[in-house]
Amino acid sequence: MACSTFARRSENPFHLQPRTSFMRFTALKLNSLHDLFIEELRDLYSAETQLVDALPKMAEAAASQELASAFQNILEETRGHVSRLESIFKQIGEKSSGETCEAMKGLIKEGEILVKAEGDPDVRDAGLIGAAQRVEHYEMAGYGTARSLARRLGENQTAEILQQTLDEEGEANKKLTSIAESQVNVAATSEHS
Ligand SMILES: [Fe+2]
Repeated sequence: MACSTFARRSENPFHLQPRTSFMRFTALKLNSLHDLFIEELRDLYSAETQLVDALPKMAEAAASQELASAFQNILEETRGHVSRLESIFKQIGEKSSGETCEAMKGLIKEGEILVKAEGDPDVRDAGLIGAAQRVEHYEMAGYGTARSLARRLGENQTAEILQQTLDEEGEANKKLTSIAESQVNVAATSEHS
């Protein structure tokens, strides 16, 4: 897993920068599928909370109103995904902290480059969609993995909750594809026709 140890906010004197991550100095101990399941959930929790911070910037950067509102919708859903994960942690009696999802940090960093990009706003929108779809695919892979682990562990109710989020990630991805194939691309190519 491409994630490293994350200092808990309460233990972190630099809590004003909660996204600061630290490289893992000890190997991840995976003695059971349950251990792996918890690590996967923490990875997702870190990914989702990072996204809650990043999506408003993407919505603000979008030139297309349709894209801006799609990002806003994804933000609202993402907040719901964070809440679902928190309720899962509560139910299984595990803490949500302990991991920083380095992959999501990288994906968001790429998105920030597009947020700051200059030039044709329609072309930048197409780039923002690409960045957001990379995020969606990463999350879909993570939720698919966690859902399958939950099933193997007999945690059927948790598996259903994870499937619900997985479905929403899939729908968000489809919505972004449809925007990419309509408004944004038409606008970007029309100048050259
Ligand atoms: Fe999500």
